[in-house]
Order: sequence, then C-alpha cells, then structure tokens
Amino acid sequence: MDVVVVTGSAGLVGGEAVRALASRFDLVVGVDNGMRRYLFGPAGSVADNLADVERIPNYRHHRMDVRDESALTALFGEYGSDVRLVVHTAGQPSDEWAADRPVVDLKVNAVGTMNVLEAVRRHCPSAVVVLTSTTKVYGDVSDSLPLVETDTRWEIDPAHPFHEHGIDESIRLGGNRTFAGVSKLAADLAAQSYAGLLGLRVGVFRCGSVTGARHAGVEQNGFLSHLVRSAVRGATFPVIGHGGKQVRDVLDARDLVEMFWQFYLEPRPGEVYHAGGGRERSTSILELIARYEHLTGQEVPFEHVPEHRFADVRCWITDTRKFRHDYPAWQPAHDLSDILRSVHEHWVDADMTGVDDLSDSTATP
Ligand SMILES: NC(=O)c1ccc[n+]([C@@H]2O[C@H](COP(=O)([O-])OP(=O)(O)OC[C@H]3O[C@@H](n4cnc5c(N)ncnc54)[C@H](O)[C@@H]3O)[C@@H](O)[C@H]2O)c1
Repeated sequence: MDVVVVTGSAGLVGGEAVRALASRFDLVVGVDNGMRRYLFGPAGSVADNLADVERIPNYRHHRMDVRDESALTALFGEYGSDVRLVVHTAGQPSDEWAADRPVVDLKVNAVGTMNVLEAVRRHCPSAVVVLTSTTKVYGDVSDSLPLVETDTRWEIDPAHPFHEHGIDESIRLGGNRTFAGVSKLAADLAAQSYAGLLGLRVGVFRCGSVTGARHAGVEQNGFLSHLVRSAVRGATFPVIGHGGKQVRDVLDARDLVEMFWQFYLEPRPGEVYHAGGGRERSTSILELIARYEHLTGQEVPFEHVPEHRFADVRCWITDTRKFRHDYPAWQPAHDLSDILRSVHEHWVDADMTGVDDLSDSTATP
C-alpha cells in the first residue's frame, strides 16, 4: 500500500496536498490538531477545510499534535515502510504570535519538525519528505537590498541582480530574524542535516506568500485572503504600514503542492528551494486592492495604519529558477487574477452559506 502522510492537513497547504495527492496514493493520513484556531481565534478556524478533506474516501484523519513525539512515533509505526511521502506543513506561521509565545512557537515549528523527521528515520527511512520552510529564515535581509519607491510599490533597484527574477537562494542568512524565523530556520537546518548526515530524502521549500481559496486569512496571517474576506463582508481592511506599498509575490497553494509532487518523483535530498509566485505574481497591497476592485467591481473599504507591522519587510519577490532548472516540468498554473477570483468565490460562498460566521467552537489545545 502506498501511503502519504500530510501534517497540517486541515490548513491551507496541507488541505491542498490532501486533495491533490488522494488520487495518487492508496491512503492519505492527515495529522492536524486544529491549532490555527487557538493561534488566531475563530476566524483562524480550519474546521471547514477539515470537514471538506474528510469527505475524501481514502483520507484518514488523526487529531494529533506534532509536539507529541510518542503519538507521532506510534502513528508512523502503524504504517511503517508503506509511507512513501511525508508533506510536513503543520506549523505556527505568525511573527507577532511567536514574539508573544516564543517557546511554544519553537516547540511547534522546530521540535515538531524534529519529531516528524525522527519518526520517518525510525519507521520509513526511504520515504520522501518535503518541508514547508519560509523566507522568514532570512529575517529582514531583503530590506538591506537597494530598494526604490514608486507610486504604488517598493521595488528592488533595477540595477540590482535580484531585480529581474527576484531573490534567489544565494541571499545571506542574516539580519534581524523574528522568533518564527528562528524556529523555522532550526527546522530547515535540521531537515538538511537529516538529509546530509543520515541520508533521509528531505527537500526544503522556503515559501514566500502562499495562498488560496481555503486560506483562513486573518489580520496576522494571510494578507490576500484576509483582504478579500474583509471586502466580501464589507469590513474595513487595515493597510498597515509602508503606505501599503510593501510587495510580496503570491503562489497558489495548489502550485506549491505540484512542486512537492515533482520533487517526490525525482527527489534531490538536502536541496533547498525558494517557492513563490515570482515577479509576474508580485503585488503591493495598494496594487492588490486596485486589481481586486477591477476584477470584481466591488469596492474595498480600507484605512491606512501608519505604524508598520512587526517585522514586515518592504519587498520580497521570489526567484524560483533553481527549482525550475531541476524540475522543468513545473510551471505555476494560476496567475494573480485567478488566485484573487478563486479566493473571492470562496468567501462569497462562505458568506452566503453562513460558514464564515466565526462562531465555530472546535476545541483546541
Ligand atoms: N502560507 C504562507 O504564506 C506560508 C509562507 C511561508 C511558509 N509557510 C509555512 O507553510 C506551512 C503551511 O502553511 P499554511 O499557510 O498552510 O498554514 P495553515 O496555518 O493554514 O496550516 C497549518 C496547519 O497546521 C496545524 N497545526 C499547527 N500547529 C500544529 C501542531 N502543533 N500539531 C498539529 N497541527 C498543527 C494548524 O491547525 C493548521 O491547520 C507552515 O509551516 C508555514 O509556516 C506558509
């Protein structure tokens, strides 16, 4: 039997991994303890996404905390060498939350990852593992690049080598790093050591901004989803700091999962890849609002908040050429307008069906 284990299976990336991989494996084993609701309150709940993936016939859910080493070890022991692929997405994603509770953050992101890697080492050492790391591991280094301010965005100086294709894996690991950056970097480095020293077939994907219809966007995490969600509800969207000119490139979670699939077919253990939407899918907040209004004809009520968000860099655009060189079959299928449309349709539907009523009472740790 071919088994894929997806941690964080009720979250954005994990849920899309379950949907994409269910037809490619005999069984999908999901691990998620619903912690996103604990992190971000009812608006962060992933109960709706979990209910959706639980409708997939060959999906089996385990409400389990990745910090629980013995539970994870027992789970992996149950499936043993049938496990062919592990997609590890369970994590604490917010810089602000991590600043408040750094020890909990470290345990979820770093120790949780070590627990997963250790369970793989003991029970299914031939399995391929993909780790969802983050560009937060670089801290604020991208802000020390020469940047120029235009009417609508912060931009990497056109004379700089990173301008045309974005920031590649050669950018240095330095600068001021948030606690979430620290915990994710610890996980990222551990994964590389499990590959380099112990021979596990692990790939590290440093993700920029990943989103999609199923993202439970909240003010602290998931800006595109949060913007659309606010607009659909008619709520005022706070444009926090940098005059709304901060830039990110956006990748649809379904395209990220296809990166994982390509890596699974031909793993390159220990490799680190940038994963993002690239220059074509880069946008500032102001540009995103304008694009959304143009696409939907719906006005986005927003207000500027002068003080910038904790650890919010002015510009990050991802260069994915290393991955595309190693895996030429991969191309993102969804452009920025597709992404906005699918997120919009999701929140309109959730609003109409009352799913987005924020009163979910799922128990959380
Ligand atoms: N979405 C992005 O823009 C982005 C960018 C960079 C990195 N990442 C990383 O990718 C991964 C997936 O991101 P996402 O956007 O799908 O996040 P998400 O919050 O939507 O999903 C993560 C899931 O993990 C679960 N979880 C959290 N702590 C857990 C624990 N201790 N035990 C079990 N389950 C737990 C949550 O309940 C949630 O369902 C995360 O590790 C995140 O740090 C995401």
